[in-house]
Amino acid sequence: MARESPGNGVDPGRLIEDAFEGLAGSSILVDREGKVALATAGAAAILGRRPEAGTSIAELFPEPTSTGRGLAEELADELPVRALVPVTGPRGKTTVRVRAYPLRSGSGHLLSLGEGGPSMPCEGVEFQGMLTCSPAMLQVFRLVERVAQGDETVLVRGETGAGKELVARAIHDLSRRRNGPFHAINCAALPANLLESELFGHARGAFTGAVRDRPGHIQLAHGGTLFLDEVAELPLELQAKLLRVLETRTVMPVGARDAIPVDVRFISATHRSLRREVEAGRFRADLMYRLRVVPIFLPPLRDRPEDVLLLARRFIEEGNRRGPRRIEEISPEALALLQAHDWPGNVRELQNVIRYAFVVGEGPILLPTDLPPEFFEPDEVRKGAQGQSSAEARRILQVLSEVGGNREEAARRLGISRATLWRRMRSLGLLPSREG
Ligand SMILES: Nc1ncnc2c1ncn2[C@@H]1O[C@H](COP(=O)(O)OP(=O)(O)OP(=O)(O)O)[C@@H](O)[C@H]1O
Ligand SMILES: [Mg+2]
Repeated sequence: MARESPGNGVDPGRLIEDAFEGLAGSSILVDREGKVALATAGAAAILGRRPEAGTSIAELFPEPTSTGRGLAEELADELPVRALVPVTGPRGKTTVRVRAYPLRSGSGHLLSLGEGGPSMPCEGVEFQGMLTCSPAMLQVFRLVERVAQGDETVLVRGETGAGKELVARAIHDLSRRRNGPFHAINCAALPANLLESELFGHARGAFTGAVRDRPGHIQLAHGGTLFLDEVAELPLELQAKLLRVLETRTVMPVGARDAIPVDVRFISATHRSLRREVEAGRFRADLMYRLRVVPIFLPPLRDRPEDVLLLARRFIEEGNRRGPRRIEEISPEALALLQAHDWPGNVRELQNVIRYAFVVGEGPILLPTDLPPEFFEPDEVRKGAQGQSSAEARRILQVLSEVGGNREEAARRLGISRATLWRRMRSLGLLPSREG
């Protein structure tokens, strides 16, 4: 039986094309194979040519986007994408702002195009006080949203300063427990006996100085969330005690006779692999399985280079609000150093580096001399300034950072005149363009 077309012989495909053209603005519809299905006149205008149906996205946008990957690769993640994409059209090389949305049924993507501005490589997505451009972090945000609906025990793994506590708070704030307490305790900060009574509480007379019953953090978090930071550092005897809490949902304070029922959601965090701690005999396997019902891995900052500039700009905005220095831009040399840095302290380190720049530097441009000394260790300079910077540049930057950017003092230490220092800095690309 032949299918009837609706209306008086109007081709439904044509109808959809007209609707798309009329409603979708500057858009390209991409099928599940990553090939152009439809493109509007608006999209053609931005690209400088109409993309043929059947052209693959990899062909249409062959160059890496502002996130460092190809657009086709980004689409494969099935997450919303926002990126600046370089294109070479009849008008030469331009940048196009692309937002891509996966279609609900997995049948393809809708790309929405805009004229690209060169200033911001990625606008960033804000979620519960966290900002990112990184697809891996966007996936973390999704997982946080989902896990907040339930009551499962969560283990957040990530390096120091990567945002573990922010993730724990986000889960609490989005959960049904949001009006209950959020308690955090750092398992690495206290010796075992103190940690025990901090966590589990104690009864009056349990030990010298225990003059009254005192609830521990587990009890204090009743109706809310307990965040166990650095959980891998929990001593073995307390691990056994915590396991009992998770199994029985009751807590037994030190020296008490009766267990007290508690309604607490547990979120723990660690910078170590718990599995490796288990293998080394330092962590109980049964507790590990109880704690990591839902594991969340936070990628370190060095693995999300797209976030370095985004977060640096965020922290600069914050610094500008505090004053008195106002930073309007980051010099290309300083940016190269920031992007090549290893960020062992992750987002917290970046935040501190920007604070340092506000204190140490002057003027509206963030310069290499505004960065702390660790940026001028040989390895960083080699990776960062990529050949622009010779040993001489390294030496000048080192001395300038030692003297807090004072060029007169730096020239004296280098045994050259101020004018020579200025000339050398200019020829080495160490001056802002205004001055250079
Ligand atoms: N994605 C982000 N956007 C904005 N700020 C962030 C982000 N991630 C982390 N921060 C900031 O970085 C700092 C460190 O974050 P947080 O305390 O959550 O890290 P952590 O992993 O718990 O560190 P530690 O292991 O040292 O306890 C905080 O000031 C936090 O606000
Ligand atoms: Mg923390």
